[in-house]
Amino acid sequence: MIESQFSKLISGTMSWGAWGKNFNFYEMQRLIENTVDLGITSFDHADIYGGYTLESAFGDAFSRTDISRSAVQFISKCGIQLTGSNRPNTVKHYDCSKAYIISSAEASLKHLKTEYLDALLIHRPSPLMDPNEVMEAVHQLKKEGKIINFGVSNFTPSQVDLLSKEAAVDVNQIEFSAVQHQALFDGSLDQMLTHKIIPMAWAPLGHIFSLETTPQKKRVLEVLEGLSTTYNASSDQLLLAWILKHPSGVHPVIGTTNLKRIEASVGAVSIALTTEDWFRILEASQGYEVP
Ligand SMILES: NC(=O)c1ccc[n+]([C@@H]2O[C@H](COP(=O)([O-])OP(=O)(O)OC[C@H]3O[C@@H](n4cnc5c(N)ncnc54)[C@H](OP(=O)(O)O)[C@@H]3O)[C@@H](O)[C@H]2O)c1
Repeated sequence: MIESQFSKLISGTMSWGAWGKNFNFYEMQRLIENTVDLGITSFDHADIYGGYTLESAFGDAFSRTDISRSAVQFISKCGIQLTGSNRPNTVKHYDCSKAYIISSAEASLKHLKTEYLDALLIHRPSPLMDPNEVMEAVHQLKKEGKIINFGVSNFTPSQVDLLSKEAAVDVNQIEFSAVQHQALFDGSLDQMLTHKIIPMAWAPLGHIFSLETTPQKKRVLEVLEGLSTTYNASSDQLLLAWILKHPSGVHPVIGTTNLKRIEASVGAVSIALTTEDWFRILEASQGYEVP
């Protein structure tokens, strides 16, 4: 298992603000306190969340808690340029230039009211990304103590290789779940194990509870419902336990803001799926047994 300074479960903040629950200052403060009380000390951000507004709202709420900055870890991401009222952009695009990475990281520090980020990730690989420029930005930010770890998100193994030659890649945050399990077979998780890159999984529940149903989701849910008595666990807990069984030590980035579900997620960490049940879930997801 890859060594990591992040809590086993990471709290994803994407839907806390304008892109979802629209929590007010006090609700956000309480959610941060409750989450940390449950042992989830790492928070996943991106400059774009809430249309570039969430980091600042979170920073205000966090600064009103009694939680020490050293007791938590802040992850943020940069590189996506959205259109909309907070940016003059005329088309959505990616910007991985040195100047943009540095200015975005500095804006995240200001909004989150912190001196440093525990990790800064490039949110999406840009076809125009120049590894040298990224490296120069990362080296400067690290030298100035503004970031502790550097990482990427949604990068394929070859895209990680491209950057690894220039700067150490400490984290890769990918979509990974029992429903979306490509990372098991495309070399992503192999690469993370080989090079001790900390794996983080977004959408760890595979959108299984969204309104849109598919034959794949139905098959997986059916198997999970069958296993729920055996493990005395809910379907969402079993989905997290499935991820947690991978030997790389993947950190699920959980998106729920519901306290009961956050508590249940913490309970998932102590569920040990048998190898057969792990493959039973994989088989349901793939729709066929392994060769
Ligand atoms: N790096 C990237 O490109 C990227 C992309 C997307 C997301 N992320 C990060 O990953 C985090 C998590 O992503 P996600 O929100 O897709 O994750 P998720 O944890 O897979 O899904 C959370 C959603 O599932 C619902 N849910 C959870 N348990 C449920 C249950 N038992 N029954 C019904 N609904 C249930 C939640 O609703 P309630 O809130 O009502 O419980 C919430 O809407 C984000 O916050 C963000 O930080 C990163």
